Amino acid sequence: MAETYDVIVIGAGAAGLMCALTAGYNGQRVLVLDHARKPGKKILMSGGGRCNFTNLNSTPANFLSDNPPYCISALKRYTPEHFLDLVERHGIEHEEKAAGQLFCQNSSKEILELLLTECDWAGVEVRLKTTVESVRDRHAGFTLTTSGGTLECGALVVACGGLSIPTMGATGFGYELAEQFGLSLQPTRAGLVPFTLHPELKEQLAPLAGISCPVEVGCRGQRFREPMLVTHRGLSGPSMLQISSFWEPGDALSINLLPGETAADTLRQRRREQPESTVAHYLQGTLPRRFARAFADLNGWHGPLQHLDNRQLDAIGDTINQWSIQPAGTEGYRTAEVTLGGVDTRQLSSKTMAVNDRPDLFFIGEVVDVTGHLGGHNFQWAWASGVAAGQVF
Ligand code: FDA
Repeated sequence: MAETYDVIVIGAGAAGLMCALTAGYNGQRVLVLDHARKPGKKILMSGGGRCNFTNLNSTPANFLSDNPPYCISALKRYTPEHFLDLVERHGIEHEEKAAGQLFCQNSSKEILELLLTECDWAGVEVRLKTTVESVRDRHAGFTLTTSGGTLECGALVVACGGLSIPTMGATGFGYELAEQFGLSLQPTRAGLVPFTLHPELKEQLAPLAGISCPVEVGCRGQRFREPMLVTHRGLSGPSMLQISSFWEPGDALSINLLPGETAADTLRQRRREQPESTVAHYLQGTLPRRFARAFADLNGWHGPLQHLDNRQLDAIGDTINQWSIQPAGTEGYRTAEVTLGGVDTRQLSSKTMAVNDRPDLFFIGEVVDVTGHLGGHNFQWAWASGVAAGQVF
């Protein structure tokens, strides 16, 4: 005899656990399945071990999707304040790092413990190390063949996440299930991911490795003013991760090293007031000293400003305000925080997350074509979409 549940959730990550506990509190018999040895691995590694669990300024404008209005309803009904309230009820100490970005003060573990505790209180069973081999449609419900036996359920929630960080258990299983049930997918690609550089540029930037500086980066009409980090492999840091979700192969990035200032004007003024000073001195006023020096060397900006004419100062100013770099690519799913694209949301109900003509089949979290900016928005989507589906029962 197959074990029977009202609801089976595939994926014990942020969205799956949130959905399960919500359905459990609504009196459903809920089972969460995961092939991994531990639940919530991405929660544990998130936010540098401190989980940036939400963003108080999260709005639908912080999400990318081929169908932008889809996420509005769920995000409106389960807000960052709702999750914050849950965090505070569990006594988890937290802090606001950048504007609106809430992190645990101690450890991401506390967020996972919160979810598992709530699942326990709601009577949810979480079964790990269980591989789902096949899902069969019973027209009213589903039969799952798993490594642990056959299971039946009235409703199935797919919360398998995306393709990023395969070593953490990411698979394309959610997309395969979507296709099995006739749903189309938006093309997937790595998002919130560092850039790699062509060998020549990588070598030129090598002296800058390890240095972080505040910049404004632009590409495809998007701009982000956040720190950039030069690494041994290429460019990373919040500004680069943010813009990577918009970047397409072949695009150049325009990096403004001194946002809010027209460098050519300031250089002309400096030439009048301090003719002996150099471009490196000027850059050091705002940028880290090592970066300023290496950047001036890289561009061959030596000698005092008094030896530079207006045309030269304008060209230097342009490079400072619009440094154009063409990345070779990105580090891909190996290090990406998220997967862009996924299940096309036009086939899902924005109220319930269920497939339009299948009220017993749900897709939530990262597996669907909704991807947040960096800064806690992706977890907010996981919570909100999980609650939207869990509330149906
Ligand atoms: P998630 O990936 O969390 O869970 C999916 C689950 O499904 C996993 O447990 C997996 O093992 C399981 N699974 C997959 N295939 C399966 C199969 N075939 N059978 C059974 N189980 C299967 N976001 C944010 O808002 N703030 C942050 O600080 C960070 N930081 C961060 C750091 C790093 C390094 C990464 C990689 C990502 C982040 N993120 C983030 C993004 C965030 O982690 C992500 O958006 C959510 O975890 C997505 O939640 P889901 O539940 O949809 O998928």
